Amino acid sequence: MFAILTMMEREVKLENIVSLAKRRGFMYQGSEVYGGLSGTWDYGPLGVTLKRNIMNLWWNYFVDARDDMYGVDAAILMNQKVWQASGHVDTFTDPLVEDLKTNQRYRADHLVKDAGFEAEGLTNEELNELIIEKEIKSPVGNELSPVRTFNMMFQTTVGPVADEKSISYLRPETAQGVFTNYKNVVDNFYPDLPFGIAQQGKAFRNEISPRDFVFRSREFEMMEIEYFVHPDKWEESFEALLKDVHEFLDMLGLPQDMVHELEVPENDRAHYSKRTVDIEFDFPIGREELLGLAYRTDFDLKNIQVNSGKNMEYTIKGTNEKFIPHVIEPSFGVERALMAVLSSAYTEDEVNGEKRIFLKFPEHLAPVKYAVSPLLKNKPELVAKAREVYDILKKKHGNVMWDDNGNIGKRYRRQDEIGTPYCVVIDFETLEDNAVTIRERDTTEQKRVAIQEL
Ligand code: GLY
Repeated sequence: MFAILTMMEREVKLENIVSLAKRRGFMYQGSEVYGGLSGTWDYGPLGVTLKRNIMNLWWNYFVDARDDMYGVDAAILMNQKVWQASGHVDTFTDPLVEDLKTNQRYRADHLVKDAGFEAEGLTNEELNELIIEKEIKSPVGNELSPVRTFNMMFQTTVGPVADEKSISYLRPETAQGVFTNYKNVVDNFYPDLPFGIAQQGKAFRNEISPRDFVFRSREFEMMEIEYFVHPDKWEESFEALLKDVHEFLDMLGLPQDMVHELEVPENDRAHYSKRTVDIEFDFPIGREELLGLAYRTDFDLKNIQVNSGKNMEYTIKGTNEKFIPHVIEPSFGVERALMAVLSSAYTEDEVNGEKRIFLKFPEHLAPVKYAVSPLLKNKPELVAKAREVYDILKKKHGNVMWDDNGNIGKRYRRQDEIGTPYCVVIDFETLEDNAVTIRERDTTEQKRVAIQEL
């Protein structure tokens, strides 16, 4: 019998998460077989299920369960005018410096921050002055070039002729696919204000220095809502969405004391925002942004109206009141949510004097809900009964794993490490009483349960 001992006080280290993610099939380095491609990550069998569980939870909560939300799924490649009008061609940049000896490039604000100085919201000139004044060097101790701006969008060309007119970009945010479809949704559904349009999908940013596992990668997934409101009523929708965001984070199982709100000062806000609250999380790498809630005003729809010549005004039903709606945007990065879920679920304790690692996922996020094992895999009658139980659970829950590798203790450890809430074991008694042993992940307690009650 396993008995849980006292939880050891420990700090979760990023390397533990990365190593577990790889060892157990959650995440792999992208293109690893060829030496990798920096800033890209691939999901393994368990990672893809965990990711989908997070994304489906978000979609169910923010879209399916509400009457005021509409979903879209826009193309990743968009007309270049989208990114000119949105300001991304001119302003979606990071400050870049180069090591003058190795020619390695770095983000200037990261080097300044790593040297112990505040870098948020500084202009290139201010970063330059700090680098000179504080004699900040590259990580290998060399002099740095002056700071210059680097546009983070991946540029490509569409079609067989590569010229100015065929330039397109891999989208750096999903939001523009919503704004460009705003008029379509209004014309088709004519929803009352306020209403939102939601989208999930890939986005791409050519980060100067990807780092910290999936926290800052070049290809990632976003979950965004553009919530359209009357200009005079943006504040109440902002507060309501902030509350909803917290409720969603609770559903991810993130402890409230690890979640923090940051009112972003004006000089740190994106070019389109009049108010932003960042939700930060205590990641293993420190307190960092998990998601943002931004008041984008009518910035985007107005730009589309000016640049496309199409009217973006909304008319209040039964009146002549017309205006361009303002927008509140909750913007989530899936990988950051996944990293928060993994790091808050990561737990170490001791069982029978041995260190144990387990992922304490909320049940609804666990990639495997039940593992089913015959006590001994060389006893055909046990295996046949276990298959029966497996089939019942698989039909009911889908995410059920057959596990007959190694001894039962090893199976429990493996299932603990992937966060399986319940292990179901079929033993000789099962053949007599039609009941199984269910072992619970967090407490390691075991119970006998009749098969028909599973
Ligand atoms: N749409 C918000 C962002 O890209 O950060």
